[in-house]
Amino acid sequence: MSAAIQPGRFISFEGTEGVGKSTAIDNLCVRLDAEGVAYIKTREPGGSPFAEQLRSLLLDVKTQINDDTELLLMFAARSDHLQQVILPALAAGQWVICDRFVDSSVAYQGYGRGHGDAQMLAKIDSLIDRFVPTLPDLTLWLDLPVQEGMQRAQKRSAADRFEQQQLDFFDRVYQGFQAQQQAHPQRIQRVDAAGDAEQVASRIWALVQELRA
Ligand code: TMP
Repeated sequence: MSAAIQPGRFISFEGTEGVGKSTAIDNLCVRLDAEGVAYIKTREPGGSPFAEQLRSLLLDVKTQINDDTELLLMFAARSDHLQQVILPALAAGQWVICDRFVDSSVAYQGYGRGHGDAQMLAKIDSLIDRFVPTLPDLTLWLDLPVQEGMQRAQKRSAADRFEQQQLDFFDRVYQGFQAQQQAHPQRIQRVDAAGDAEQVASRIWALVQELRA
């Protein structure tokens, strides 16, 4: 008789541009490796071959689409990513470490594009209800002043379709993450993303340890 496989844990990372998600994720993965935890590292939009194709379109500065189309493409990518990658990994007992998930849709499409309009937020809620069977066990919201993050992001590479937005857009995105954290204080933990990367990594590791208990 084989023991039932314990489902893996699902952790997402969120935040505005340039808050240090990639470094924080890499640092978490180093610690998981050291503990022998089986995991996959993935991202949104993207993470499966088809969703990566949608990512290219969504980030391409030449793409011209309306806000509803953008929202639906984000969820089309998410649905494929869930079915092809996230759900099978969790069922096999692997942890899933995901760079962005549904809270980015609320923050970017709901608040950035939609200015927190109730109708836009209701559309997003209903997409989550119908197409997202599993929410993360833990969401780490890396919190850094918007302007500080934008300066870091600008040094990195040419701006994509989102990074081309102005400061007021990212201020609204920030408010979106804040609102999500207030609405889901158990799942979404705010992490102070200021300071050096090792400090941020330790803060995150302390929160992740609680999931292992
Ligand atoms: P990244 O630069 O962190 O890889 O994310 C790609 C961009 O996609 C980022 O600017 C945020 C945006 N995005 C949304 O607008 N909605 C979403 O649901 C997701 C997952 C990302």
